[in-house]
Amino acid sequence: MDTTSTDTPTATPTATPDLANPRFWQLPAPERAAAFAELRRRPEPVYFGDRATGRGFHALVRHADVVEASRTPAVFLSGPGVTTPEPARWVRLLFGDSMVNLDDPRHAQLRRIVSRAFTPRLLGRVEEDVHRTVTALVDAVEHGRPEDFVAAVAAELPFQVICTMMGIPAQPRRAILDLVNRTSEDIGVARPLRRRFRMPGRGLAALARMQGIVAGLGRERRRRPTEDLISALVTADVDGRRLTGRELGAFFTLLLVAGVETTRNALAHGLHLLTVHPEQRALLLADLDGRLDGAVDEIVRHATPIIQFRRTLAVDHLLGGPGGPLLRAGEKVALYYGSANRDETVFPDPDAFDITRTPNPHLGFGGGGPHYCLGAHLARQEMTALFRELFTRLPEVRSVGGPVLIPSSFDHRVRSLRFTF
Ligand code: HEM
Repeated sequence: MDTTSTDTPTATPTATPDLANPRFWQLPAPERAAAFAELRRRPEPVYFGDRATGRGFHALVRHADVVEASRTPAVFLSGPGVTTPEPARWVRLLFGDSMVNLDDPRHAQLRRIVSRAFTPRLLGRVEEDVHRTVTALVDAVEHGRPEDFVAAVAAELPFQVICTMMGIPAQPRRAILDLVNRTSEDIGVARPLRRRFRMPGRGLAALARMQGIVAGLGRERRRRPTEDLISALVTADVDGRRLTGRELGAFFTLLLVAGVETTRNALAHGLHLLTVHPEQRALLLADLDGRLDGAVDEIVRHATPIIQFRRTLAVDHLLGGPGGPLLRAGEKVALYYGSANRDETVFPDPDAFDITRTPNPHLGFGGGGPHYCLGAHLARQEMTALFRELFTRLPEVRSVGGPVLIPSSFDHRVRSLRFTF
């Protein structure tokens, strides 16, 4: 932690918990929330790490700062990478760049191609898939009485929806889900050194296998296109360009890692929030049609599935304009979405779970700008459809005990959540 103050007006006093220390992320949620509330009261962002060597980052914890960094992409770059720890350069060379880690013009070009999958027309078609999947999952819950909501419902729904959208046949789906879990389980999770050395190899092999499966499907669909997203992506010709096999693999990996984990965690936190806040649950059940949209956005604000993404300064920049703190070219900033979502200058009574909150300008899907979550509409669609089906058919559904969490500095990950109806 930086404790020198001559050159660093934002140095960390020793009393401030160290966000760069994995132990911080193992503290109980209220303690972490209190630390962020304290950081938001500071006049300037705090730098965690050694600013002199550039090994560290400024913590952007206020709503306005996260929005500014998200919407000024020429200054706050994604190119050097947005996840922590940084993927090794050779991993990116080998497997291709995922769009979260790109800046314009490559980002805009890729996003134009893949955005075709997320047009209202295509999402209208996906809506039917979502409903079919949700109905089947709730049927299975009724008949099979599973105990873990995450495995039985929350992880299944987004995974099946993305696979159907992409046109992944039923046969390799189980193997792919297993590979996704292995690929993403390392990001932001503190592990004993021993395991750290082993994990990248396992994750990498999983990534290679998964991308191999998708590249094979891509070649097949290029020859015989069907109605699915893989066909659209490999035959799309945007600005005279279509996706290469490597780009297709990288995009599919991103969709799975970005779309499955996040939605799964949002659904699990959502069921739990609606269990421990009976007055909010009663409000929702009294008017499902009128209140579901508000409930879904409040779940995303309150739970904030993704804790942070990183940006790197392209040039010196005064945060908030003239007179603001100086962020130097090459320095990193972490955008703490969860903290921005509890910013008391934007959200009255920010810790309360209130499904009637209006307006609710939360940053759970990002702070706006070119990288704003491509799947936000789809995620809302899935959450709305599932909670509608659950609360209509099983109105007594609730979590039992709290979610079993996996401490992580990257996402609010739920390993399991017992439930009953
Ligand atoms: C509750 C569920 C979800 C949450 C909380 C969430 C959150 C986020 C956040 C915070 C970002 C970064 C935004 C930024 O940097 O400005 C992001 C990006 C992204 N998300 Fe989501 N996401 C969710 C669901 C999904 C789904 C279902 C999909 C796709 C099927 C998806 C695909 C993406 C993609 C492709 C990006 C990168 C966009 C780009 O770099 O241009 N997300 N998401």
